[in-house]
Amino acid sequence: MQLTGLLDHAERLLPSAVGDTPAERVLAGKLIANLFFEDSTRTRVSFEIAARRLGADVVNLGASGSSASKGESLVDTARNIEAMGVDVLVVRCAISGGAALVADNVKCAVVNAGDGRHEHPTQGLLDLLTLRRHLGDLRGKRVAIVGDIANSRVARSTTHGLAALGAHVVAVGPPSLIPSGWRNLTCCENITISHDLDPIVGEVDAIITLRIQMERAAGQGIASDYRFAYGLTESRRARLRSGALILHPGPMNRGVEIDDAVADDALSSVIFEQVSAGVAVRMAVLLQACTAVAKDTQSH
Ligand code: CP
Repeated sequence: MQLTGLLDHAERLLPSAVGDTPAERVLAGKLIANLFFEDSTRTRVSFEIAARRLGADVVNLGASGSSASKGESLVDTARNIEAMGVDVLVVRCAISGGAALVADNVKCAVVNAGDGRHEHPTQGLLDLLTLRRHLGDLRGKRVAIVGDIANSRVARSTTHGLAALGAHVVAVGPPSLIPSGWRNLTCCENITISHDLDPIVGEVDAIITLRIQMERAAGQGIASDYRFAYGLTESRRARLRSGALILHPGPMNRGVEIDDAVADDALSSVIFEQVSAGVAVRMAVLLQACTAVAKDTQSH
Protein backbone atom coordinates (compact mmCIF):
# COMPACT_ATOMS: atom_id res chain seq x y z
CA MET A 1 0.00 0.00 0.00
CA GLN A 2 1.32 3.47 -0.94
CA LEU A 3 0.45 4.86 2.50
CA THR A 4 2.41 2.19 4.37
CA GLY A 5 5.37 2.61 2.00
CA LEU A 6 5.44 6.35 2.67
CA LEU A 7 5.28 5.81 6.42
CA ASP A 8 8.05 3.18 6.28
CA HIS A 9 10.21 5.57 4.26
CA ALA A 10 9.55 8.43 6.71
CA GLU A 11 10.45 6.16 9.63
CA ARG A 12 13.79 5.32 8.02
CA LEU A 13 14.42 9.05 7.49
CA LEU A 14 13.63 9.98 11.10
CA PRO A 15 17.25 9.93 12.41
CA SER A 16 18.35 12.31 9.67
CA ALA A 17 15.19 14.41 10.03
CA VAL A 18 16.11 15.24 13.61
CA GLY A 19 19.80 15.70 12.82
CA ASP A 20 21.14 12.53 14.50
CA THR A 21 22.62 11.27 11.23
CA PRO A 22 23.42 13.21 8.04
CA ALA A 23 20.84 12.87 5.27
CA GLU A 24 21.88 12.03 1.72
CA ARG A 25 21.60 15.31 -0.17
CA VAL A 26 19.71 13.71 -3.02
CA LEU A 27 17.66 16.83 -3.79
CA ALA A 28 20.74 19.01 -4.46
CA GLY A 29 19.92 21.22 -7.44
CA LYS A 30 16.17 21.08 -6.78
CA LEU A 31 14.22 24.20 -5.84
CA ILE A 32 11.27 24.00 -3.44
CA ALA A 33 8.92 26.99 -3.00
CA ASN A 34 6.83 27.27 0.16
CA LEU A 35 3.72 29.32 -0.70
CA PHE A 36 2.09 29.90 2.67
CA PHE A 37 -0.97 32.13 2.43
CA GLU A 38 -2.08 31.22 5.95
CA ASP A 39 0.10 31.49 9.04
CA SER A 40 2.08 28.43 10.06
CA THR A 41 4.89 27.49 12.43
CA ARG A 42 5.28 23.71 12.25
CA THR A 43 4.34 22.95 8.66
CA ARG A 44 6.27 25.76 6.99
CA VAL A 45 9.42 25.33 9.03
CA SER A 46 9.39 21.54 8.80
CA PHE A 47 8.96 21.63 5.01
CA GLU A 48 11.91 24.00 4.88
CA ILE A 49 14.05 21.84 7.17
CA ALA A 50 13.06 18.71 5.24
CA ALA A 51 14.06 20.29 1.93
CA ARG A 52 17.36 21.64 3.29
CA ARG A 53 18.32 18.35 4.93
CA LEU A 54 17.94 16.72 1.50
CA GLY A 55 20.11 19.39 -0.12
CA ALA A 56 17.38 21.33 -1.95
CA ASP A 57 17.20 25.11 -2.18
CA VAL A 58 14.13 26.73 -0.62
CA VAL A 59 12.24 29.96 -1.17
CA ASN A 60 9.44 31.10 1.12
CA LEU A 61 6.53 33.32 0.15
CA GLY A 62 3.65 34.44 2.37
CA ALA A 63 0.53 36.52 1.81
CA SER A 64 2.07 39.47 3.57
CA GLY A 65 4.95 40.85 1.55
CA SER A 66 3.79 39.23 -1.70
CA SER A 67 1.54 40.57 -4.46
CA ALA A 68 -1.30 38.47 -3.03
CA SER A 69 -1.83 41.55 -0.84
CA LYS A 70 -2.52 43.51 -4.07
CA GLY A 71 -5.15 41.01 -5.17
CA GLU A 72 -3.08 38.56 -7.23
CA SER A 73 -4.83 35.19 -7.28
CA LEU A 74 -3.43 32.00 -5.80
CA VAL A 75 -3.14 30.40 -9.25
CA ASP A 76 -1.43 33.44 -10.80
CA THR A 77 1.00 33.57 -7.89
CA ALA A 78 1.77 29.85 -8.27
CA ARG A 79 2.24 30.15 -12.06
CA ASN A 80 4.63 33.06 -11.60
CA ILE A 81 6.73 31.15 -9.07
CA GLU A 82 6.71 28.07 -11.31
CA ALA A 83 7.94 30.21 -14.21
CA MET A 84 11.09 30.86 -12.17
CA GLY A 85 12.05 27.20 -12.42
CA VAL A 86 10.68 25.70 -9.23
CA ASP A 87 10.47 21.90 -8.93
CA VAL A 88 7.92 21.65 -6.11
CA LEU A 89 5.31 24.11 -4.84
CA VAL A 90 4.25 23.52 -1.23
CA VAL A 91 0.91 25.29 -0.82
CA ARG A 92 -0.98 26.36 2.28
CA CYS A 93 -4.09 28.42 1.72
CA ALA A 94 -7.47 29.23 3.21
CA ILE A 95 -9.32 27.99 0.12
CA SER A 96 -10.61 24.43 0.47
CA GLY A 97 -9.38 22.74 -2.70
CA GLY A 98 -6.76 25.48 -3.25
CA ALA A 99 -3.80 23.11 -3.57
CA ALA A 100 -5.66 20.98 -6.14
CA LEU A 101 -6.56 24.16 -8.03
CA VAL A 102 -2.88 25.08 -8.17
CA ALA A 103 -1.94 21.53 -9.27
CA ASP A 104 -4.44 21.77 -12.14
CA ASN A 105 -2.74 24.92 -13.39
CA VAL A 106 0.99 24.17 -13.12
CA LYS A 107 3.28 21.43 -14.42
CA CYS A 108 5.59 21.13 -11.41
CA ALA A 109 4.75 18.98 -8.38
CA VAL A 110 2.37 20.47 -5.81
CA VAL A 111 2.15 19.40 -2.16
CA ASN A 112 -0.90 20.33 -0.09
CA ALA A 113 0.29 21.86 3.21
CA GLY A 114 -3.26 22.47 4.43
CA ASP A 115 -6.16 23.92 2.43
CA GLY A 116 -8.95 25.60 4.36
CA ARG A 117 -11.21 23.14 6.15
CA HIS A 118 -10.44 20.44 3.57
CA GLU A 119 -7.27 18.38 4.08
CA HIS A 120 -3.83 18.50 5.70
CA PRO A 121 -2.26 15.33 4.30
CA THR A 122 1.23 15.63 5.77
CA GLN A 123 -0.26 16.27 9.23
CA GLY A 124 -2.29 13.10 8.79
CA LEU A 125 0.88 11.21 7.85
CA LEU A 126 2.85 12.50 10.81
CA ASP A 127 0.00 11.58 13.16
CA LEU A 128 -0.03 8.05 11.71
CA LEU A 129 3.75 7.74 11.98
CA THR A 130 3.74 8.88 15.61
CA LEU A 131 0.92 6.52 16.52
CA ARG A 132 2.49 3.59 14.67
CA ARG A 133 5.84 4.08 16.40
CA HIS A 134 4.16 3.70 19.79
CA LEU A 135 1.23 1.38 19.13
CA GLY A 136 2.64 -0.79 16.32
CA ASP A 137 0.14 -2.08 13.76
CA LEU A 138 -2.86 0.27 13.91
CA ARG A 139 -5.39 -2.37 12.84
CA GLY A 140 -8.09 -2.57 15.49
CA LYS A 141 -6.71 0.33 17.52
CA ARG A 142 -9.20 2.93 18.76
CA VAL A 143 -8.33 6.59 18.36
CA ALA A 144 -10.52 9.45 19.60
CA ILE A 145 -10.35 12.75 17.71
CA VAL A 146 -11.79 15.38 20.00
CA GLY A 147 -13.04 18.91 19.50
CA ASP A 148 -13.44 21.20 16.53
CA ILE A 149 -14.06 18.52 13.91
CA ALA A 150 -16.14 20.90 11.77
CA ASN A 151 -13.25 23.21 11.00
CA SER A 152 -10.45 20.68 11.10
CA ARG A 153 -8.57 19.63 8.00
CA VAL A 154 -6.38 17.60 10.38
CA ALA A 155 -9.39 15.55 11.52
CA ARG A 156 -10.25 14.71 7.93
CA SER A 157 -6.74 13.71 6.82
CA THR A 158 -5.91 11.77 9.97
CA THR A 159 -9.26 9.96 9.89
CA HIS A 160 -8.75 8.92 6.25
CA GLY A 161 -5.33 7.55 7.17
CA LEU A 162 -6.45 5.77 10.32
CA ALA A 163 -9.39 4.17 8.52
CA ALA A 164 -7.10 3.06 5.68
CA LEU A 165 -4.81 1.36 8.21
CA GLY A 166 -7.73 -0.39 9.91
CA ALA A 167 -8.02 1.72 13.05
CA HIS A 168 -11.35 2.81 14.50
CA VAL A 169 -11.96 6.55 14.91
CA VAL A 170 -14.30 8.01 17.50
CA ALA A 171 -15.07 11.63 16.59
CA VAL A 172 -15.97 13.44 19.81
CA GLY A 173 -17.27 16.97 20.20
CA PRO A 174 -20.34 19.12 20.69
CA PRO A 175 -23.02 18.79 17.99
CA SER A 176 -22.17 22.31 16.79
CA LEU A 177 -18.63 21.15 15.93
CA ILE A 178 -19.39 17.82 14.23
CA PRO A 179 -21.13 18.29 10.85
CA SER A 180 -23.96 15.83 10.21
CA GLY A 181 -22.30 14.52 7.02
CA TRP A 182 -19.04 13.76 8.77
CA ARG A 183 -20.00 10.16 9.44
CA ASN A 184 -19.88 9.57 5.68
CA LEU A 185 -16.37 10.98 5.34
CA THR A 186 -14.83 7.58 4.77
CA CYS A 187 -15.56 3.93 5.62
CA CYS A 188 -18.62 4.30 7.89
CA GLU A 189 -17.85 1.17 9.85
CA ASN A 190 -14.56 2.67 10.99
CA ILE A 191 -16.02 5.86 12.44
CA THR A 192 -18.37 6.50 15.31
CA ILE A 193 -19.51 9.87 16.60
CA SER A 194 -19.98 10.79 20.24
CA HIS A 195 -20.87 13.98 22.04
CA ASP A 196 -19.68 12.66 25.39
CA LEU A 197 -15.93 12.39 26.03
CA ASP A 198 -15.94 10.88 29.51
CA PRO A 199 -17.08 7.33 28.68
CA ILE A 200 -14.47 7.18 25.91
CA VAL A 201 -11.38 8.41 27.73
CA GLY A 202 -10.56 5.06 29.32
CA GLU A 203 -11.35 2.98 26.24
CA VAL A 204 -9.07 4.34 23.54
CA ASP A 205 -5.43 3.81 22.60
CA ALA A 206 -4.91 7.48 21.77
CA ILE A 207 -6.66 10.83 21.93
CA ILE A 208 -5.95 13.48 19.33
CA THR A 209 -7.31 16.74 20.65
CA LEU A 210 -7.90 19.54 18.19
CA ARG A 211 -7.44 23.26 18.45
CA ILE A 212 -10.61 25.32 18.65
CA GLN A 213 -10.20 27.35 15.46
CA MET A 214 -11.21 30.80 16.62
CA GLU A 215 -10.15 32.28 13.24
CA ARG A 216 -12.71 30.07 11.51
CA ALA A 217 -15.45 31.26 13.88
CA ALA A 218 -15.45 28.04 15.89
CA GLY A 219 -15.59 30.20 19.00
CA GLN A 220 -19.21 30.98 18.16
CA GLY A 221 -20.03 27.28 18.18
CA ILE A 222 -18.69 26.39 21.61
CA ALA A 223 -20.10 26.93 25.06
CA SER A 224 -18.10 28.60 27.79
CA ASP A 225 -17.83 25.24 29.57
CA TYR A 226 -16.00 23.63 26.61
CA ARG A 227 -12.99 22.73 28.77
CA PHE A 228 -15.26 21.12 31.35
CA ALA A 229 -16.98 18.97 28.70
CA TYR A 230 -14.20 18.29 26.18
CA GLY A 231 -10.89 19.55 27.53
CA LEU A 232 -8.04 17.13 28.24
CA THR A 233 -7.78 17.88 31.93
CA GLU A 234 -5.61 16.16 34.52
CA SER A 235 -8.56 14.17 35.80
CA ARG A 236 -9.25 12.82 32.31
CA ARG A 237 -5.55 12.03 31.80
CA ALA A 238 -5.65 10.01 35.03
CA ARG A 239 -8.35 7.81 33.49
CA LEU A 240 -6.37 6.95 30.34
CA ARG A 241 -5.46 3.32 29.74
CA SER A 242 -1.87 2.42 30.49
CA GLY A 243 0.18 3.27 27.38
CA ALA A 244 -2.51 5.48 25.83
CA LEU A 245 -1.22 8.52 24.00
CA ILE A 246 -2.14 12.21 23.80
CA LEU A 247 -1.60 14.02 20.50
CA HIS A 248 -2.28 17.58 19.37
CA PRO A 249 -1.46 18.98 15.91
CA GLY A 250 -0.62 22.39 17.33
CA PRO A 251 -0.80 25.24 17.86
CA MET A 252 -2.34 24.50 21.27
CA ASN A 253 -4.85 26.63 23.14
CA ARG A 254 -3.53 25.65 26.57
CA GLY A 255 -6.26 25.77 29.19
CA VAL A 256 -9.00 25.38 26.55
CA GLU A 257 -8.74 22.02 24.76
CA ILE A 258 -5.71 20.81 26.73
CA ASP A 259 -4.30 21.61 30.15
CA ASP A 260 -0.60 22.38 30.68
CA ALA A 261 -0.01 19.28 32.78
CA VAL A 262 -1.44 17.04 30.06
CA ALA A 263 0.35 18.71 27.15
CA ASP A 264 3.66 18.38 28.99
CA ASP A 265 3.06 14.93 30.50
CA ALA A 266 6.21 12.88 29.92
CA LEU A 267 4.36 9.54 29.89
CA SER A 268 1.42 10.09 27.58
CA SER A 269 2.03 13.26 25.55
CA VAL A 270 3.77 12.73 22.21
CA ILE A 271 3.07 16.21 20.91
CA PHE A 272 6.69 17.13 20.27
CA GLU A 273 7.38 13.71 18.76
CA GLN A 274 4.67 14.59 16.24
CA VAL A 275 6.67 17.66 15.28
CA SER A 276 9.85 15.61 14.73
CA ALA A 277 7.89 13.04 12.73
CA GLY A 278 6.66 15.94 10.61
CA VAL A 279 10.14 16.63 9.27
CA ALA A 280 10.64 12.96 8.34
CA VAL A 281 7.25 12.72 6.67
CA ARG A 282 7.90 15.88 4.67
CA MET A 283 11.30 14.58 3.58
CA ALA A 284 9.60 11.41 2.29
CA VAL A 285 6.89 13.44 0.55
CA LEU A 286 9.35 15.84 -1.11
CA LEU A 287 11.44 12.90 -2.33
CA GLN A 288 8.35 11.30 -3.80
CA ALA A 289 7.21 14.60 -5.36
CA CYS A 290 10.60 15.12 -7.02
CA THR A 291 10.68 11.53 -8.27
CA ALA A 292 7.17 11.88 -9.70
CA VAL A 293 8.15 15.06 -11.56
CA ALA A 294 11.31 13.41 -12.93
CA LYS A 295 9.29 10.42 -14.22
CA ASP A 296 6.67 12.74 -15.75
CA THR A 297 9.37 14.75 -17.54
CA GLN A 298 10.94 11.57 -18.97
CA SER A 299 7.58 10.34 -20.29
CA HIS A 300 6.98 13.54 -22.34
N1 CP B 1 -0.23 21.54 12.70
C1 CP B 1 -0.05 22.62 11.90
O1 CP B 1 -0.45 22.63 10.73
O2 CP B 1 0.60 23.65 12.50
P1 CP B 1 0.98 25.01 11.78
O3 CP B 1 -0.31 25.71 11.42
O4 CP B 1 1.81 25.79 12.75
O5 CP B 1 1.73 24.67 10.52
